[in-house]
Amino acid sequence: MGKIFVDACFGKKTPYTPVWMMRQAGRYLPEYMKVRAEAGNFLNLCHDPKKACEVTIQPIDIVGVDAAILFSDILVIPNEMGMHLDFLVGEGPVFKDPIRDEKALDALIGGEEAANKLTYVYETLTLLRKELADDKALIGFTGSPWTLATYMIEGQGTKTYNIVKKEIYSNPEFMHKLLRKVTDVVKIYLEKQIEAGADVVQIFDSWAAALEKDKYFEFSWNYMKEIAAHIKAKYPHIPIIMFPKGIPGYLDKIDGDFDVFGVDWATPIEYAKEMLGDKYVLQGNMEPCRLYSKEATKEAVTNIAEVMKDGRHIFNLGHGILPDVPVENAKYFVKLCQEVSKR
Ligand code: CP3
Repeated sequence: MGKIFVDACFGKKTPYTPVWMMRQAGRYLPEYMKVRAEAGNFLNLCHDPKKACEVTIQPIDIVGVDAAILFSDILVIPNEMGMHLDFLVGEGPVFKDPIRDEKALDALIGGEEAANKLTYVYETLTLLRKELADDKALIGFTGSPWTLATYMIEGQGTKTYNIVKKEIYSNPEFMHKLLRKVTDVVKIYLEKQIEAGADVVQIFDSWAAALEKDKYFEFSWNYMKEIAAHIKAKYPHIPIIMFPKGIPGYLDKIDGDFDVFGVDWATPIEYAKEMLGDKYVLQGNMEPCRLYSKEATKEAVTNIAEVMKDGRHIFNLGHGILPDVPVENAKYFVKLCQEVSKR
């Protein structure tokens, strides 16, 4: 059976517009909390293919989304490049020894060797492709080199990005050397995800908005484009979704060989359509906090459906679902998207 999600990524006509939610496997689901408790902690859960497979499928069964996204995290990549990683409850991810000099950069494990250490991800995907219904797509993913490098240099989330931006302006060669190393791992990582069973891949560039325009293209988009071109050349049948968060002012310069552009919630969908709708299928972009209210959800879904009524669209949120959203409202969102777009 064909997968309507994959068809939609390629801009083909589908019976309705498919829908999924970023961070759909996670803490708003009591069923997720139960499996995470059994695993002990979040990283253990990522490392356990059977449990990771189980939580990946939960939102398909419980919420009714059209695609499953691999349960993992973008930060397992730097972790397997040799950086010690902790997910501290309430504080988020922390690297104990951030990369601050050439010596630390050179000590990072690169290429095939790093990609080969992510076996638990490939095992989860292979298991998932067996367990998932044939008509549901399986999305693999990576962080963009820029977003990963930001965490690797800062060591944790940041409001100012001052440590990594100091490198951008005072030591750009150092930044490019790190981005090159991460890009080379990510290319192999995505290839291996596809070989293991991913039907679609998404590149998350969560920290896109930290950079001014010319620096964004130099330090982030160019590397994402290189990864997309590499995957496209080898796997033309695998759709690629690019999600740079928070750069509505840069859309005039967006180009490259990929299929779907993820629109964040701060970018008006009609504007994204005008700028990119002819070249790319658009994904998104309801503001995730609207999920606190059914009325607010209905208002946004109706508007997005109206703007995107000619198709070339995938419903999603404009960023990840939050942990305190009622499951009932997530179900309502998914069903509404599928109903209003019926053709
Ligand atoms: O979308 C999915 O359901 C698939 C799984 C997934 C996770 N993280 C699970 C997760 C995906 C695709 C990610 C991507 C990710 N991770 C991004 C890019 C997307 C985005 O949100 O911008 C980023 C920046 C990270 C890094 C990260 N991981 C942070 C900052 C945090 C802590 C903040 C938070 O939301 O708690 C995580 C932890 C994390 N990753 C959780 C989950 C379900 C929560 C961990 C827990 O269960 O305690």
